[in-house]
Amino acid sequence: MVDLATVFKPCSLQPKKRMLAKAVMPIGDVLDGRYEGKFVQIRGWVYRKRETKHVIFILIRDATGVIQCAIKRGSLAWDEAERITIESSIIASGIVRRDERAPGGFEIAVDKLHTIGLAEPFPITKDYSEEFLRDVRHLWLRSRKMNAIIKVRAELLRLIREFFQRNGFIEVSPPMFISSACEGGATLFGLKYFDEDIYLTQSAQLHLEALIYSLEKVYCIAPSFRAERSRTIRHLAEFWHVEAEQAFATMEDMMELEEGLVGYACSQIVEPCRKELKLLNVDVQRLLNVIPPFPRITYDEAVQLLRKKGFEIKWGEDLGFDEERALAEAFGGPFFVYAYPRRIKAFYCKAYRDNPELAMSEDMLVPKIGEIITGGAREDDKDELIKRIEEFGLRREDYEWYIDLRRYGTVHHSGFGLGVERLLTWMLDLDSVMDAIPFPRTIRRFYP
Ligand code: 4AD
Ligand code: MG
Repeated sequence: MVDLATVFKPCSLQPKKRMLAKAVMPIGDVLDGRYEGKFVQIRGWVYRKRETKHVIFILIRDATGVIQCAIKRGSLAWDEAERITIESSIIASGIVRRDERAPGGFEIAVDKLHTIGLAEPFPITKDYSEEFLRDVRHLWLRSRKMNAIIKVRAELLRLIREFFQRNGFIEVSPPMFISSACEGGATLFGLKYFDEDIYLTQSAQLHLEALIYSLEKVYCIAPSFRAERSRTIRHLAEFWHVEAEQAFATMEDMMELEEGLVGYACSQIVEPCRKELKLLNVDVQRLLNVIPPFPRITYDEAVQLLRKKGFEIKWGEDLGFDEERALAEAFGGPFFVYAYPRRIKAFYCKAYRDNPELAMSEDMLVPKIGEIITGGAREDDKDELIKRIEEFGLRREDYEWYIDLRRYGTVHHSGFGLGVERLLTWMLDLDSVMDAIPFPRTIRRFYP
């Protein structure tokens, strides 16, 4: 092992080593062609290795790309190249030349090679199951695929923040420890909080509602937790939740905001993530075609459509994964279902005043995944809210602070919640939400 600090850290007493520090180039820059014919030094990990009689080819990857290095027999680096194993960390230097046969179009003729950490035989070989790759996710994160997904995810989160900021929303940080459930008891994770029994949050909504009385337009990007026993491609026990809440806003205002957000994310991701989208085989046109306004149908219309498709669904039943996917097939892109039966939605949903059996609640659905957003208007009348709390069998004392919000200057307001992993899974056409987050948590998976 070499002490990296002495090789790379600038140090005023050692001017030569400081020059060396500056000389390390990101592989992505070398692949851009700006060092053709020049001497470069790179560092990273051995991605592939192939040995012929006279040359050893090593693909080296860093955060920015993968480049081919060639080491000729007889060069100073030959012995080190022979010894080196897949996933060893190394520093290499040599002259860059254009070579059409090399992946990425450039190759480094390496004459110096230094091993930082020699890797033991790497457990991920060519034949692997998705299941195994999730067992060794801590290592699989090094793959080109996960590297690209995580970069797109980061850009998506940046775009979401940008969208809200441009629309005058203030980012807020809600609590993760909570004492009153937002989305019903069945999916609550309980925990001991000192001597009390409390929960992990399922949604920041109730706390965001408190914040609109000060800031009017707020949003957050935070984890939510659900004790989901479902083993589907769209359920996680811990997911990242984008939630917004707005004073003086209607359900229709929310639908416009939601389609604006999804449209913005899909169109704006294309340019900065062109390389990653290509690597992930994403049809960029599909993303560019996501242009608001999205189609809207009522729950009643959804039920009729489903019956025509042969589903035996009774009015008042919730739409399941199969029903949502069947509907989404007909639309081919994002669309809304709104005006759901009140009883299948949460206690805080506002009922239509002329039809109290229906809630001003809407979902945005996409092909393959189904629901990616739920939003709507909140009950803003104190007495109605108290009735709902009792009707849903909730303990009023747990919600007294929430009822206060209707007691002191209530206003009509609306909001929504979007699952980051569901959106990303759909945008990138991934197999499961488990691939849209570095370390997925599900009923069976909390390791690594
Ligand atoms: O539909 P949900 O449960 O709605 C709420 O939590 C509202 N309180 C949000 C709000 O109005 N502020 O969750 C919202 C979204 C879903 O549409 C889905 O995208 C995602 O959160 N989601 C999940 N994603 C992955 N795994 C799970 N188990 C999820 N549960 C919900
Ligand atoms: Mg929902």
